[in-house]
Amino acid sequence: MKDFISMLDADRLFIENILSLSAFLKEKVKKGEIYRPLDGFTAALIFEKPSTRTRVSFEVGVYQLGGHGVYMDTRSSQLGRGEPIKDTARVLSRYVDLIVIRTFGQERVEELARYSDVPVINALTDEEHPCQVLADLFTIWEYKRKLEGLKVAYLGDGNNMCNSWLVGAAYTGMKFYAATPEGYEPLPKYVEAAKEIAKETGAEIVVTHDPIEAVKDADVVYTDVWASMGQEEEAEKRKRIFMPYQVNSELVKHAKPDFLFMHCLPAHRGEEVADEVIEGERSVVWDQAENRLHTQKALILKLVRKSRP
Ligand code: CP
Ligand code: NVA
Repeated sequence: MKDFISMLDADRLFIENILSLSAFLKEKVKKGEIYRPLDGFTAALIFEKPSTRTRVSFEVGVYQLGGHGVYMDTRSSQLGRGEPIKDTARVLSRYVDLIVIRTFGQERVEELARYSDVPVINALTDEEHPCQVLADLFTIWEYKRKLEGLKVAYLGDGNNMCNSWLVGAAYTGMKFYAATPEGYEPLPKYVEAAKEIAKETGAEIVVTHDPIEAVKDADVVYTDVWASMGQEEEAEKRKRIFMPYQVNSELVKHAKPDFLFMHCLPAHRGEEVADEVIEGERSVVWDQAENRLHTQKALILKLVRKSRP
């Protein structure tokens, strides 16, 4: 495995390795121990969409491992003036040890990876957000000490988060229930892939329109924004359609008493989540955000160590 551009690039063993390496790296940070196994390595961090968590956690993570990250955005690079992604890939490969990219189409990341000699990490596309799912799985594992058999209710839009989660849940043997309005289901490609993987791992994959069916006895209640980056003009229409899927104190009564509330953030209080839930005692969203740092450091180590002489 050279790149991590889709959750489908992972498998069960890969995820288990990421979780244990993340725990090791987190412990080092907590103890204030310096750990720089990748002294002198470099990464290009391309962001064609806005970011707070992903950008900062990658920049800090690269630095903590002993490397240096070069941030690039569309406006201030030649990407915004139409330089082909395949040319960017070949040029950056001559300078850096790793390319991280957040962009629109999944095919753009695929092309970048095809032409790049160095590993490529998907930091979010319209179709996937696999780095977030690694952090989410690690957070659940920290709280529950297992993943297999746990029920995850995903409420709202069948978007990039939902697509990557389907596959992550399938590999780890979880019960994943996505409840979305009609017409907003996750992409069939990911549902089918997850169901196929589930045959091997014993996972349960369900796509429903019923939020209560999803949340009933759930160990984890997860939601994300109703209008993702690039869908801003649909936001008002979506608010009306998605309201029955809001995660509020009424809905979470159907979950297990010790459920975890999760959200990849940024959150819109009063839309996909009520203030009382995100600020409530079952919310683990800040741990989830912190764990982006530890799990991405683990991911970088796994990819970059292999590709360096
Ligand atoms: N969760 C997440 O990816 O956040 P950012 O958009 O701030 O990076
Ligand atoms: N689905 C959201 C996730 C943000 C981290 C988006 O793509 O905007």
